[in-house]
Amino acid sequence: MEYIFRILRFDPLKDKSPYFKDYRYQTPETKSTLEALMDIRNEQDCTLSFRYSCREAICGSCGMVINGEFDLACRSMVESLGNNLIVIEPLPNLEIEKDLVVNMDPFWEALDKVDPCIQSIDKAPEKGYRIEENEMEKIWQFINCILCGCCYSACPVASRDERYLGPAALAKLNRFVRDPRDKRPFLSWSKVNTEAGLWGCDTIFKCNDVCPKEVRPADGIEALRRKLVVEKIKRIFKLKR
Ligand code: FES
Repeated sequence: MEYIFRILRFDPLKDKSPYFKDYRYQTPETKSTLEALMDIRNEQDCTLSFRYSCREAICGSCGMVINGEFDLACRSMVESLGNNLIVIEPLPNLEIEKDLVVNMDPFWEALDKVDPCIQSIDKAPEKGYRIEENEMEKIWQFINCILCGCCYSACPVASRDERYLGPAALAKLNRFVRDPRDKRPFLSWSKVNTEAGLWGCDTIFKCNDVCPKEVRPADGIEALRRKLVVEKIKRIFKLKR
């Protein structure tokens, strides 16, 4: 089977603007888009740049846009793309460092702002923590996030407002706030009670559509909004008593 891989190329050191370059690619075997890109780089053009690591849809490094759809190159199979012309572009709304490699700094900086790790003042129990199944059910969906950046890159709010924390960071905050081991004070997590945080989301649900791991980040944002309102009401009633 022969394919044309139309890949967006851009080297800021020598190109004025991004452009598409076509590569003819033949394979008798079933290959992932990532494997095809590696073959093209190894056999046709060693200057082609893209990120990858695990090759198993775990590390989140290979997010890109394949025939107009956000996906992980390592889990998208060339055969199943249903077309001989395969158009590959880097994640949008992030600066291109080279070809399919984008600058993920805004994504990591947003994530850092929500303190994405367990905040506990308790000493860990000798036999480790035990989380009940019903508590795990509330956070399992969000634990699956592999931080590929597809949701952030697809989010129309993040694309127009650089202050917005974005779907991945807010869903991750929801994951920790709902974890029974996490003891962060209300004041610490409610700092996202802002236009650049929880209330920035336009509920367009693009993040839910593009997530390759079905995390549905917008569900996390909604859940966190509800929790914030409930906590506020509890506080008001407590103060009045
Ligand atoms: Fe790790 Fe694709 S290479 S997710």
